[in-house]
Parts: sequence; structure tokens; C-alpha cells
Amino acid sequence: MFTWLKKKSPQDRKREQKMELPNIVQVDMHSHLLYGIDDGARTIENTLELAQKFVEMGYKKMILTPHVMLDGYKNTPDIIYNRLADVQKALEENNIELEIQAGAEYYLDEGFWKKIRNNEPLLSFGKERYVLFESGFRNKPQNMKELVFEMQILGYKPIWAHPERYYYLHSDDDLLDDMLSRGVLLQINQVSLVNYYGEQCRKYAEFLVEQKYVNFIGSDCHSLRYITAMQDLKKEKIYQKLSELNLLNNSLL
Ligand SMILES: [Fe+2]
Repeated sequence: MFTWLKKKSPQDRKREQKMELPNIVQVDMHSHLLYGIDDGARTIENTLELAQKFVEMGYKKMILTPHVMLDGYKNTPDIIYNRLADVQKALEENNIELEIQAGAEYYLDEGFWKKIRNNEPLLSFGKERYVLFESGFRNKPQNMKELVFEMQILGYKPIWAHPERYYYLHSDDDLLDDMLSRGVLLQINQVSLVNYYGEQCRKYAEFLVEQKYVNFIGSDCHSLRYITAMQDLKKEKIYQKLSELNLLNNSLL
């Protein structure tokens, strides 16, 4: 048992009380809790501390989605599944009741094209075979439409991770319409709505919520700072609007 799981100061209790506010979803489907394989949790202690926080917030299940990108995190299914098994064991040993599954956050790069061309199995989740993908923030990825099409041909349902973070999208209504008409699902980061990435991203996230274009909400949690921001969101008016959306998160339970 890790010592930090036992210690509870008055501040900890206060924080926990805050966490008892109602939660919109019980499943998070975008996070970086698998330690040491991307820019998220660094150690098993980090992973367990974050997992415990999610349990306190009312989450029952998390899909853990490490980055997969050619220039940075060359995670393979083997690397991801091995780390998942380690974390699973540690959760059980520490009595943290949280169901976890592995997915991935695929970066649309040449490596992803190669996987698609070679028909390598992608890490998907849910009965619908959802695949989470992302791109760089400034430049629209080349061949985005073709990649989406190919994913769909292979029987996957693409989910576009945090569209609000792509500056190339903010002024490209046609791209958004096109992706929606192709059946691409949208996942916004909860923390975007509390200015975590700045005002422009917050406004675009709000626009997507108001238009009811959002299918999933995610934590995209890399560290404790995300948890604090998620708690802050509960105090915002937009939180009510989020809870009125027809979100698919809980269909993954
Ligand atoms: Fe992410």
C-alpha cells in the first residue's frame, strides 16, 4: 500500500468533499495514465494517485490512450498492453476500484498511414470499435479525409480528439462540416472549458457544446493539474449545458 493513499489532511477532506459534486459521466475515454510511455504519468505512483482521484470523482471506468506518433512516442500494442497489465495489478493491490482498458491516441502521420496501408490492427475500444485520433495544432494534416475514409472502410469509428485545440479548424467551417457529414465523432477536453489552453480554445469548445456537436467528453489527463481544472469546471455555467448533451461516454461501461 502506498503511503499517500492513507494520509488524509483536513485539506484533503475538503478537496474530497468538492469531488462529491455530481459527475456527468462515469467513463473517461481519453487519458495518459499509463506511466512512462508518453508525456503523461511518469511513475506507477503517479498513475495510482490519478486513478484514485478519478474514483473519488465518481468514475467507474477509464480507457487509457497513450500517444502513438512517429516523432516521439512509438508505442506498439505490446508496449501498451504490457503497461496496462502492470497498472491493472497495482490497482488491485491498492484496492482502487477502477476498470481500465487500453486504447491509443493516434497521431495522423506517416506512421499511421503505414498502419492503415498494412491493415495493422488499431487499438480500438467499445463495441463500435472507436479509434481516437489527433493531429498537430497549427497545420491541417495532409490526407485527413482519406485517412478517415480508410479507417471507416476498415470498420472503425473515428473519434476526433479535442477539435477545439486545432487552430486550423477555428476558421475552417467547411472542414468541420465535412468531418461531421462523414460521421466523425467529436471529443472535447473538459479542461478546455476552463481556459486550460487559452481563450480561443475555450470559445471553440463552447461553440461545439452549444451546437450539440460533442459526442464524448474526455479528461486528456496527464497530471494532477487536469484534475483540479476538471473540478473547477463544475462551478461554471457551461457545466449544465454539458450535462444536457447526449454523450456516449457511459455507453462504454
Ligand atoms: Fe491526449
